[in-house]
Amino acid sequence: MTPDKIMARRRFLMCRPTHFAVEYAINPWMDPAAPVDVDRAVAQWETLRRTYLDLGHRVDEIEPVPGLPDMVFAANGATVVDGRVVAVQFRDPQRADEAPAYRSWFERAGFEVFDPKHVNEGEGDVLLAGDLLLAGTGFRTAHAAHARLQEVFGRPVITLQLVDPRFYHLDTALCVLDERTVAYLPAAFSPGSQAVLRRLFPDAILATAADAAVLGLNAVSDGRNVVLPVQATGLASALQERGYVTIGVDMSEIRKAGGGPKCCTLTVRETTAVREVAR
Ligand code: ARG
Repeated sequence: MTPDKIMARRRFLMCRPTHFAVEYAINPWMDPAAPVDVDRAVAQWETLRRTYLDLGHRVDEIEPVPGLPDMVFAANGATVVDGRVVAVQFRDPQRADEAPAYRSWFERAGFEVFDPKHVNEGEGDVLLAGDLLLAGTGFRTAHAAHARLQEVFGRPVITLQLVDPRFYHLDTALCVLDERTVAYLPAAFSPGSQAVLRRLFPDAILATAADAAVLGLNAVSDGRNVVLPVQATGLASALQERGYVTIGVDMSEIRKAGGGPKCCTLTVRETTAVREVAR
């Protein structure tokens, strides 16, 4: 029998995809020639938001800005740990204006905000796993940004080298399930980074190519409930075998821009103390 998992109640920041579109291609998922249904994107996003609320999480919303079609991907808006915020700096000019929008949301909410200093795409590339910060590089976030994160947060940063352009952000290749466990696609990482992941997480769930191809790893876990793309059926079974409760959501419209549930979700970690609630 797997012991019951404990859910940590979270605070999330999300951005309604009111102005969602695929007008440029900055990752291999994006095809500006393919039609996008904004109403469908909004409905899928609304279901995701509802799912979090029904689980008992808190969801704040940032006002969507016209002309910023990727702003729905709130994970790229900041990295927030222990109430400190490292602002972001996008690689691509098309997304540059999202950075000040997210920054001012945090300033207005009373957070201490630090400059990124280098290209840094927030929680898309920086995931907290227990005491460690796992940080991706290779496509977006610059390696130099990792040192900055370690300095601001005072937590060890583990650099992970991403090698497959389809999995350009760390949160498309790896999902933190709880303080000790992750799921990831080995082939998305360099051989050395695969060895690091094996060393740190010998019990990790290894995703299949089919799970990753539907952005299955772009999932949000509260330690017990894992919200993941409904198409990632293999990963869902593997998670259930380990005692997690899986909740499938259809993000297929938003996936046309290269993102899933996790990309739409920024975790706002106000303090180190997590309020844990057993369900
Ligand atoms: N179109 C966006 C981009 O390429 C998608 C971002 C997805 N976000 C994420 N956290 N993986 O930047």
